[in-house]
Amino acid sequence: MFETLTAPESDKIIRLMGIFAADPRPEKIDLGVGVYRNSQGQTPIMAAVKAAEQQVWEAQKSKSYISLAGDKAYLEAVEDLLFATRGAKAAIATPGGTGALRQCFEALKYLRPSLTVWLPEPTWPNHASILHYLGLRVETYRFRDATTGGLDHTGLMADLAQIARGDAVVLHGCCHNPTGIEPSSEIWHGIAVTLAARGALPVIDMAYLGFGRGVEADLAGLRMIAAECPEVLVGFSASKSFGLYRDRVGAVLAQCQTPAIQSEMQGLLTWLNRQNYAFPPDHGARVVQVILDDETLRANWIAELSAMRAEIDANRQCFAADLRRHQMADLADQIAAQRGMFSLLGLSPDEVHHLRNARGIYLVDDSRVNLAAMTPEASRNVAGAISALAQTGQSA
Ligand code: LMR
Repeated sequence: MFETLTAPESDKIIRLMGIFAADPRPEKIDLGVGVYRNSQGQTPIMAAVKAAEQQVWEAQKSKSYISLAGDKAYLEAVEDLLFATRGAKAAIATPGGTGALRQCFEALKYLRPSLTVWLPEPTWPNHASILHYLGLRVETYRFRDATTGGLDHTGLMADLAQIARGDAVVLHGCCHNPTGIEPSSEIWHGIAVTLAARGALPVIDMAYLGFGRGVEADLAGLRMIAAECPEVLVGFSASKSFGLYRDRVGAVLAQCQTPAIQSEMQGLLTWLNRQNYAFPPDHGARVVQVILDDETLRANWIAELSAMRAEIDANRQCFAADLRRHQMADLADQIAAQRGMFSLLGLSPDEVHHLRNARGIYLVDDSRVNLAAMTPEASRNVAGAISALAQTGQSA
């Protein structure tokens, strides 16, 4: 029966990784997939992670199963990190942030298969892909204003104000992927109040904690929503914030209205773990827990994360300066004000392909650039190439 198979197309980010790997040009530069790289082009293991791994290696006496929901100490450490308060929350460990989102969406399907899930336009391509795969209804709400490249505040609030009770709304907790647009505190508060008034369920994708303005500042939106809305789902990823990409460390936290509901939700999430992969991976989760629960390791982790954030921001400012040198002040201002790894350059897919084919510059098809991988040389090249495209529609 395999002979009738047509494989589903992979999404634009995964496709790009394959094309980049197959490109023999030594000067090629990967500004596609969202992975942090230092100025030497490496994605190092954080020192706090290495130290915690050593502790785990020395202390661990068994690799036997722990619990279907995942290690309790890890889940409590993540709850404390994200919410700063304990409460009626159900929680499971998951394989990475994508595993967490998959379980959030599975929970939505179990709870209310007829609901609509609202995604920001634009958003990370895998949101819609998983939701469609699960057969859930998807709609989009306005987020980026294509004319200004900034937040479409009016459109955002108008669309959220129309959402029906019992629908779910996916929000990027910080460092919106792919735009880098950060709502202000006032706007976050408006979002939280509107969702609460509509009776909509917020699903917060928290994948870039610490890459925006700092760990605490990046949690402002999540905490406002948790304060206003009685029920919240959070999909947490440690891939970027702890540099644990391939170890697949994530969690779902569900804020519930009462301990009795929490207990049912815990049962559902744990059961979903059993259906999808049984026991979640433990090694990376334990490393995160050791770091968060040890004062020194935690301080070291925060310092390393801050250094990464400062480096990405320096890359942003360098790229903005290069764009200004080519008289692209508007785009430069947008890039300089945005946060996290990504920004959109506002190029067409043809222009993106042209940069890739003629210059070996790899951006995602929607013209998302990963500023965490930008080097001064790449910055000059990309700015020059975009300027040439803007002037002539041709390569420089
Ligand atoms: C990205 O957006 O590039 C990252 O989140 C990696 C991924 O899985 O897509």
